[in-house]
Amino acid sequence: MRPADLMRRTAFRLALGVTLFVLTAIVLASAIGYSLLRQQLVARQDARVTEIFTALQETSQSGDETDLVEAVTTRIKASPDFATVYLLRGLEGKVLAASVPDMWFKPGWSTVEAASLHVPADYPYRMFAASVHGYSIVVGLTDADLDDLAEISFGAFGWSALGVLIAAIGAGALIAARIQARINTVEATLHRVALGDLTARLAVSPKGDDLDQIFRAINHTLARLGGLVEAMRQVSADIAHDLRSPLNRLRIKIEAAAEAEGKGQPAAADLAAALAESDAIDQTFSALLRIAQIEAGTVRQKFRRLDLSVVLEAVVEVYAEVAEDAAMTLTSLTQSPAFIEADKDLLTQALANLIENALRHCPPGTAIACSVEADATGIRACVQDNGPGIPEAERENVLRRLYRLEKSRTTEGSGLGLALVKAVAEVHDAQLSLTDAGPGLKAILDFHHVPG
Ligand SMILES: Nc1ncnc2c1ncn2[C@@H]1O[C@H](COP(=O)(O)OP(=O)(O)OP(=O)(O)O)[C@@H](O)[C@H]1O
Ligand SMILES: [Mg+2]
Repeated sequence: MRPADLMRRTAFRLALGVTLFVLTAIVLASAIGYSLLRQQLVARQDARVTEIFTALQETSQSGDETDLVEAVTTRIKASPDFATVYLLRGLEGKVLAASVPDMWFKPGWSTVEAASLHVPADYPYRMFAASVHGYSIVVGLTDADLDDLAEISFGAFGWSALGVLIAAIGAGALIAARIQARINTVEATLHRVALGDLTARLAVSPKGDDLDQIFRAINHTLARLGGLVEAMRQVSADIAHDLRSPLNRLRIKIEAAAEAEGKGQPAAADLAAALAESDAIDQTFSALLRIAQIEAGTVRQKFRRLDLSVVLEAVVEVYAEVAEDAAMTLTSLTQSPAFIEADKDLLTQALANLIENALRHCPPGTAIACSVEADATGIRACVQDNGPGIPEAERENVLRRLYRLEKSRTTEGSGLGLALVKAVAEVHDAQLSLTDAGPGLKAILDFHHVPG
């Protein structure tokens, strides 16, 4: 990975951010540590100076100048390396003993450079000057530790900072590379999807970390998308296939009309048949569009609270005469009220489709029984007949668009009635089931209650 690429990686940038934070913490900690240690060392040095000064002060108490000069001289001799320096001035201001040149010292504490004292030491001196019984005593002490301290502190800071920096950059690069590898698989998978392979899925690791959760969600979305695209493809293929025969029939009828016309024979009958065929095609298209509209779900905006029993009774009334003409019985048994949130026109259409199916696909003498029942679990509408029924294996298929049982090919219709009922059920959050009425078919619509 190139450095510029590395900088673009979130993980690496995070690692760098943490490093900067840690470095700032190290600088602060070092500064605080340095200042505390320095205070300690200075205090130690001052204590040592005070100790010497007190000893000399005690000597001076005897009032014997020779004793004091002697004490200072002994101390000067004991420190040939100038670790401690002294200056003793007499009552008239004359220097009585000294390891440094005659010069004025500020009374109290001061820090003086070795160079100013003209001594061959490398480090500054802590000096204490005071007047005792008329004598002026100056004591100074140098401490190499004090200067070493800064060097040690900065050295320690430098090394730890370097260590942290290397560790953080290394860890950042490692984490970034690992995450990048997984991101690369996402890119590759989505690229495959973009090329049309909807079966491509992301590998989810057993760790179940946050990336795995996202991968699982993407896989779920891909599966849904794949299902939808497959359904769409199926529908388009079905439509293309099933519309071919009516279009062919239309063509044959137009050709027949043209031929009759050419021979000078009447073409009216063929033209009428062609018109009927084109009307049928038009109806099929309208029904397909209507199903697509219902499935889009926008119809929900028109939902109102209504009594399902009232809707069913109205549909049964409309078909009563048709049933009688077909030598069938159409009865209804409803329980009111049975309130649901629904679109009245769609419900009417769905119930009509179920009754029309019984009328169309059952022989004369069939009994069609419709009902609405309401109980604590929900509201159920049924349309039941005692006709030939639908074989169990075909009950899923007949819900598909344009699907008709083999034996029904000769009857009128396009195989869209049940697909519409299913779409209406779904948009109402209801469950459509086809069951055996032994003999016959029982179509059930289970709705949710709407309180109040
Ligand atoms: N009550 C029934 N008894 C027996 N078979 C049925 C019944 N209802 C539907 N079917 C079978 O299910 C198929 C699909 O029904 P669907 O209502 O979707 O289409 P259709 O009735 O053939 O045509 P359309 O309703 O579009 O005019 C029918 O062709 C028929 O074979
Ligand atoms: Mg039908």
